[in-house]
Amino acid sequence: MTHPLSIFVLMVVALLVPPTWATSRGGFHDIAPKGIRVDLFHVDYGGNFTKLELLQRAIKRGKHRLERLKAGDVLAADDGSDELQAPVHAGNGEFLINLSIGTPTVPFSAIVDTGSDLIWTQCKPCTSCYNQPTPIFDPSKSSSYSNLPCSSSLCKALPTSTCSPDCEYLYAYGDYSTTQGVLASETFTFGSKITVPHIGFGCGDDNEGKGFSQGAGLVGLGWGPLSLISQLGAGKFSYCLTSLDDSKTSPLFFGSTASFGKGLKVGSTPLIKNPSQPTFYYLSLEGITVGGTLLSIPKSTFALKDDGSGGLIIDSGTSITYLEEVGYKLVRKAFVSQVQLEEADASSTGLDLCFSLPSDASTVEVPKLVFHFNGADLDLPAENYMILDSSTGLLCLTIMDSTGMSIFGNFQQQNLQFVYDLQKETLSFAPVQCDQL
Ligand SMILES: *[C@@H]1O[C@H](CO)[C@@H](O)[C@H](O)[C@H]1NC(C)=O
Ligand SMILES: *[C@@H]1O[C@H](CO)[C@@H](O)[C@H](O)[C@H]1NC(C)=O
Repeated sequence: MTHPLSIFVLMVVALLVPPTWATSRGGFHDIAPKGIRVDLFHVDYGGNFTKLELLQRAIKRGKHRLERLKAGDVLAADDGSDELQAPVHAGNGEFLINLSIGTPTVPFSAIVDTGSDLIWTQCKPCTSCYNQPTPIFDPSKSSSYSNLPCSSSLCKALPTSTCSPDCEYLYAYGDYSTTQGVLASETFTFGSKITVPHIGFGCGDDNEGKGFSQGAGLVGLGWGPLSLISQLGAGKFSYCLTSLDDSKTSPLFFGSTASFGKGLKVGSTPLIKNPSQPTFYYLSLEGITVGGTLLSIPKSTFALKDDGSGGLIIDSGTSITYLEEVGYKLVRKAFVSQVQLEEADASSTGLDLCFSLPSDASTVEVPKLVFHFNGADLDLPAENYMILDSSTGLLCLTIMDSTGMSIFGNFQQQNLQFVYDLQKETLSFAPVQCDQL
């Protein structure tokens, strides 16, 4: 079974044409009562990179994230006190949203991340703030600002906090970035219309690390109580990521708008909680088919273990998919034997498996790739697992190996709509042209 990759003909043409960036500005749309739509844009948006360059930059950014997520790493404060040990969160995501904080409103761009929970922005007066493109939020100028007491449930939900006398937090991310400050409550505005009061957020006066440079803060969409999705009580959210090299933004929906259009073939699989990593959305991956072959991957390979290790998470902030080594090796072997092209040196790409394209190729056939989740098969579009770069003449697999945890990354999620239903504890998905939503 093969997918004819005629799409690659279009891609080659597209790579020769200078990208044209949307001139109309995205923003927020009030499309239904209680529902919110915001537009995600990629951190390299407007940067004039090829698709391969975009992927390479994302893999580089995600390197530390992956290493430290797997290790369940802990950041210790300089004084070595137990109190100030902070578990490490994913954090430096790949997408941004525009939103506003306070009364009157102050706009800023924030990284959106399904791999962490806390919402935060830089706050005056700064002990240590990095440069951000918009003015830093000054709580003394906002009439809707208040500090949250140490007795509040959100303060208690913080992984690391001290009471001195307000609820002070320390939150650490996979790339060694940290934010520190006071937990507070504010009104957030999504677009000009949708105003949500009393959102608990970190007012960070000490923010350090390279990972934040694209955003003036972060909006966590994880499963824990501090995240925006938990605080909105919306129960459901959904996103649909446009192609990595698409100039269009990607929609993100909360609440009633987080649902599928009519007539789609929707698959559904359970979302699994891991008590030792309450932020992450785990999925049960039971097998993988390459071409016509169901790979003989041991059933336990992607399973979440009793000690909280292993498992596979779905993450918007990790670029490509990382599979537990045993499983990856079988996937790699199947591609090597089924792709009718010469294997090439992949070292310049940052990926692991590449093939040389014949110079006269107009279409390339690649094997189908199906992920068998509990209850639903995900038949991936070819452009979600292969990348073609006309300048190097390489066709590469965008999956690599990991040990300790597997991650279903955002490259594999392009042009699929995902609905996270936190009440039913299911993840549903369907193929959708995301720039048409
Ligand atoms: C987000 O805001 C920034 C700064 O105000 C602006 O330049 C950018 O175009 C906005 N992006 C979208 C997608 O609205
Ligand atoms: C985009 O990059 C290409 C190749 O590096 C360059 O030739 C072109 O001038 C750039 N276009 C813009 C708008 O910067």
